[in-house]
Amino acid sequence: MTHIFLYGPPGTGKSTIGKILARSLSLPFIDLDNAIEEKAGMIISKIMKQQGESAFRGFETSALIDLEDEGESVVALGAGALLSDENRVFAQSHGRVILLMAKLEILLERLQNDSGKRPLLKGDLREKLTALLENRNEHYNSFPVIVHVDEKDIDQNAHHLQVVLGRHHLSAMGEYDAVVQSNGIEQLGEMLNSYGLQNPIIVTDENVARFHAEKVVDVLNKSGYKPKVITIPAGEEYKKLDTVSGLWKSFLEAGLDRKSTAIALGGGVLGDLTGFAASTYMRGISWVAVPTTLLSMVDASLGGKTGFDLPEGKNLIGAFYPPKLVLADPQMLKTLPEAELISGMAEVVKHGIISDPELFNLCSRGLDWVKNNLEEVVKRAMAVKIKIIEEDPYEKGFRAALNLGHTVGHAIELVSKFKLRHGEAIAIGMAAEAKYAARIGLADAGLVEAVAESLKALGLPVQIPEEMPHDEIIRAMRVDKKKNAKAIRFALPVEIGKVKLMDVIDLELVLG
Ligand SMILES: NC(=O)c1ccc[n+]([C@@H]2O[C@H](COP(=O)([O-])OP(=O)(O)OC[C@H]3O[C@@H](n4cnc5c(N)ncnc54)[C@H](O)[C@@H]3O)[C@@H](O)[C@H]2O)c1
Repeated sequence: MTHIFLYGPPGTGKSTIGKILARSLSLPFIDLDNAIEEKAGMIISKIMKQQGESAFRGFETSALIDLEDEGESVVALGAGALLSDENRVFAQSHGRVILLMAKLEILLERLQNDSGKRPLLKGDLREKLTALLENRNEHYNSFPVIVHVDEKDIDQNAHHLQVVLGRHHLSAMGEYDAVVQSNGIEQLGEMLNSYGLQNPIIVTDENVARFHAEKVVDVLNKSGYKPKVITIPAGEEYKKLDTVSGLWKSFLEAGLDRKSTAIALGGGVLGDLTGFAASTYMRGISWVAVPTTLLSMVDASLGGKTGFDLPEGKNLIGAFYPPKLVLADPQMLKTLPEAELISGMAEVVKHGIISDPELFNLCSRGLDWVKNNLEEVVKRAMAVKIKIIEEDPYEKGFRAALNLGHTVGHAIELVSKFKLRHGEAIAIGMAAEAKYAARIGLADAGLVEAVAESLKALGLPVQIPEEMPHDEIIRAMRVDKKKNAKAIRFALPVEIGKVKLMDVIDLELVLG
């Protein structure tokens, strides 16, 4: 069974953060020190005093090995638990080891009150801890995943850890996990098994099928599944009722029953269609999202919106119907055409502006940096959307912040007759909305420049095309939103990491 092991020096908060993490991921929490005390029938300081450190280490190894029989858990390890090769090999082959690290002063502050419970730190705390860190410096730094937990706010540290792990449990609209993991596709079969998902069928489009369908079938075969593959044509123009009804028929022909699972292997179009077909087939079957575009990893696969377009407009028919699992494997983005990657980056920048200034700064490093750090980009951007949709799943309030750049952007996309890609139109929309925010004194000129520079560094446009008449854009903004609404609600940037929802009546002013 794979566990999440938290390891590191005393005072890094392995137990405190571990408990919060376990609660957020809906997993059990195990404190290895408690397990040792239970096994030994006495508290650790007594074991050390009566039997010495080597007896303690023996109990530790044995408590660790007992985890073999436990279901997936978050495990807080003692600060020296992986000093022995045997323990280290066990932990690394039974889960992911995350090393927590914090500055000396912070560790001291956290340990001040309970160093009495730690036999190895008895005496002058600063001296003892400094020596321990020096002795174990090489050991601690030899772990590949090191997370710095220097924040005063423990919840912030736990959230940061979750972002690094790329793992979330959503519960505001249905219960499901969202996982980001390079080569995670290899584990799809095991995951379906562990979630009790049965009789999967893969729905994909012709482009994605070419690169990834065989691999996914192979991975599922290894876990004992025999999935059929339904391949539909690629493109927004196929996000329509005919395609949905084609899917329903294919599900019937494949013998899918109410316990079956549809796997959406593809971008946002594929996810919206498959999720909707799953929501209605036999009054609802399970579905799993395996997003393969950047946009679908950080946006479309999260939040449970499914549906299709009508000739009258995009996404006019749909249902809230969350998947049972979202598995994003950034390696799959390697086959994505560059233009699609760039387009998806508009949503990533948007997430940075909404609430992750560090993500925004990383985006500003440009496309090459992004291409080499896709896993980090996806993890950070996904975390922003998840936080928002968990707080406001049905868009009653702050979820509307995700519309940043979209009010102007959708209109521009429409007026361009979809010649501009979604991300390109959103980038132009964000730049225009930032300028408007500055014009009304909500943001400063520095923000306008930062947004434009970041988008340009990614190869995204920031100017409304010259030939595009403003009155058409304004008309399109009104059509896109509720027609009879006097004012249109905008999500406007205040600073990087903060947006404000505002109702705007005079749309001329928005375009300047
Ligand atoms: N449900 C939601 O909350 C939500 C949110 C945002 C957007 N959307 C919807 O998402 C859609 C846009 O999604 P998209 O940008 O992912 O477009 P898409 O699904 O059309 O994919 C873009 C193109 O990339 C190809 N492709 C996908 N993955 C690939 C890969 N790994 N390698 C090679 N080619 C690949 C596809 O075949 C397609 O040609 C729109 O319909 C939009 O309405 C939905």
